[in-house]
Amino acid sequence: MTETFTIAIDGPAAAGKGTISKAVAARLGFAHLDTGLLYRAVGAKTLTGTDPIVAAQSLQPEDLDGTDLRTPGVAQAASKVAVIPEVRAALVDFQRAFARRAGGAVLDGRDIGTVICPDADVKLFVTASAEVRAERRYQELADKGMDVTRDEVLADVKARDDRDMNRAEAPLKPAMDAVLIDTSDLSIEAALEAALKEIVSRR
Ligand code: C5P
Repeated sequence: MTETFTIAIDGPAAAGKGTISKAVAARLGFAHLDTGLLYRAVGAKTLTGTDPIVAAQSLQPEDLDGTDLRTPGVAQAASKVAVIPEVRAALVDFQRAFARRAGGAVLDGRDIGTVICPDADVKLFVTASAEVRAERRYQELADKGMDVTRDEVLADVKARDDRDMNRAEAPLKPAMDAVLIDTSDLSIEAALEAALKEIVSRR
């Protein structure tokens, strides 16, 4: 396929959008960008003293590698730098160029359908209750051997939801034309099925 086809998948932390995005991209042979990693990489740099705007403006592809971007501390730092308009602005061009790749692209994040790709061919908003999301994230972190409690993870999820939904710039919310998928009571297979049904109907 030489044309472009953009799929925007937004939603709060641990709603399942990463899993769905990866699976959709693999199924369709599209490229996938986890845009949260951009904010995590900037957040991680601020933890070692770099100014967030300088970090965003000088971000390099190799900054996105590394397992230490997946920690609760980096997630909080990411959601703090994500409120800064200059940080968001520095990351726009890269995301839009990715979305326009020949062969199709899936981008997941918080503002893909609303700000980055308002003309995306398909927009999904994947959500679930805070308790369900916190339990999933807790299991993921515990499986990796991280020393966290359920209460800490729930508090982390709620703090990020609050910051992401209430910021002035590009707040987390469904685009007017997004299709909502609530994964609270869905298996991974059922959630993927629901996503693919929407995508296939628009191709
Ligand atoms: O998706 P993930 O949990 O890795 O994102 C980390 C943080 O980055 C989010 O809590 C959010 O504050 C920020 N983010 C954002 N816009 C995006 C993707 C992530 O503001 N498109």
